[in-house]
Amino acid sequence: MSAPCEIWGELDPRSYPIRIGAGLLELVGTCCAERGLCGRCLVVADENTAPLFAATVLHSLERAGFSPALKTLPAGEETKGLATLVELYDALLAHGMDRKSFVVALGGGVVGDLAGYAAATFLRGISFVQVPTTLLAMVDSSVGGKTGINLPQGKNLVGAFHQPQAVLIDLAALGSLPPREYRAGLAEVIKYGLICDAGFLDWLDRELERVDRAPQDLNDSARRDSTQQLLSAMVARCCEIKAEVVGRDECEGGLRAILNFGHTVGHGIENSAGYGVYLHGEAVAVGMRFAVRAAVRSGLLPESESERIDRLLRGLHLPLHAPGCDWDSVRRAMTADKKTVGGMLKFVLIGPAGCARTGCELPEAWLEELWHGLGE
Ligand code: GLY
Repeated sequence: MSAPCEIWGELDPRSYPIRIGAGLLELVGTCCAERGLCGRCLVVADENTAPLFAATVLHSLERAGFSPALKTLPAGEETKGLATLVELYDALLAHGMDRKSFVVALGGGVVGDLAGYAAATFLRGISFVQVPTTLLAMVDSSVGGKTGINLPQGKNLVGAFHQPQAVLIDLAALGSLPPREYRAGLAEVIKYGLICDAGFLDWLDRELERVDRAPQDLNDSARRDSTQQLLSAMVARCCEIKAEVVGRDECEGGLRAILNFGHTVGHGIENSAGYGVYLHGEAVAVGMRFAVRAAVRSGLLPESESERIDRLLRGLHLPLHAPGCDWDSVRRAMTADKKTVGGMLKFVLIGPAGCARTGCELPEAWLEELWHGLGE
C-alpha cells in the first residue's frame, strides 16, 4: 500500500486536509483527533454504505476516544430533502450533541450534502468531516464546502457553504462501488480536464482502459498496487483543481462557476426525468457533450474536441444523450435552475480545451437544435 497523499483546501483560517489513500477508513478517528475534534459525533451513512463501512469508522472513532452514534438513511437522491433533514436533527438531539460535537458524512454526494447541511445549521453550525465513498463524492462534492438539500421545485435550492474539518478519501471503497456509480463519477473527472487541465484530459485519453476497469482491478491482488496509484493520481489531480478553484472563490462569486460545466443541461435532465432516473454524473456527461458542441458551434473549440469527448464518454460507458427526456421539459427545468440569472440561461463553455469561461449566453434557437443533435 502506498503512503496517503495529502492536499490542502486552502481557506485560511478554515484550511483543511484532503487525504487520499487506501485503508483510510481505519484512520478516521486519529484524523479527527489531529484536527482537534472531541466528544460526541454522529456518523451519517446510507443503507449502502452503513453495512460496508460503518463498523470500521465507528471502531476507529471509539479507539480514538470519541463517542460515536450511527444514523443510517435510505439510499438515493429522494433522501436529500426536508423530511430527512428533520430526521437528522432528531438524531443529533437524541445523541446529546452540543456545539463541540461533530458529524461524519460517510457515503456519496447525497449523504455528504445532507449531513453537511445538518452540520452547517444545527446549533448555528457544528464541525463535520467528509468521508466520501463514491468516486463522484471523492472528486467533487466532498471538497469545497457546498452543502444542501433539494426542494420539490429543484435540486440544491436550499444550502450553505460550510467547509469540512477534513476530507478522508479511502480509495479501497471504490472496489465495492457499483460500476454505474463509478462511471458516473468519471464524468466529473473528465470535467476537470475540460475546464482546467488539457494535459490531464490527454492523460485520461491515454489511460482510458485502465481507468475504466480500475474498480475490478482493485480486487485483483496482482493489479491492486498499480491501480491504487492510478486512482490516487486521478483523484488527487481532481481534488487539487477543485481546492485551487474554491481557494480563489469560495462562495461562487465568479471563478467557482466553472465547476458547473455541463450542469445547466445536466440539472435540467435530472429534474425533468425525476431524481434517480439518471445519476448526477450521467446527466452531467450529456450536459458536457451539449456544452462542448455549443463551444464548437460558437467557434471556441475545434470539431476534434467534440470527437474527443464522444470517445471519452463512449470509452467509459457514459451516456451520449438522454433517452426518455423531451426537450420541452428539460428546457422548463433549466429555467427553474438556480444558475438562471434574470430569466437568462447562463452556460459555462470552454475554449480552448482546459480553459473555461462562465456566464455565456446562447441563442435560444441553438438550444433545441443542439439538444436534438445529441441523438434521440
Ligand atoms: N460541484 C460544484 C461546486 O462544488 O462548486
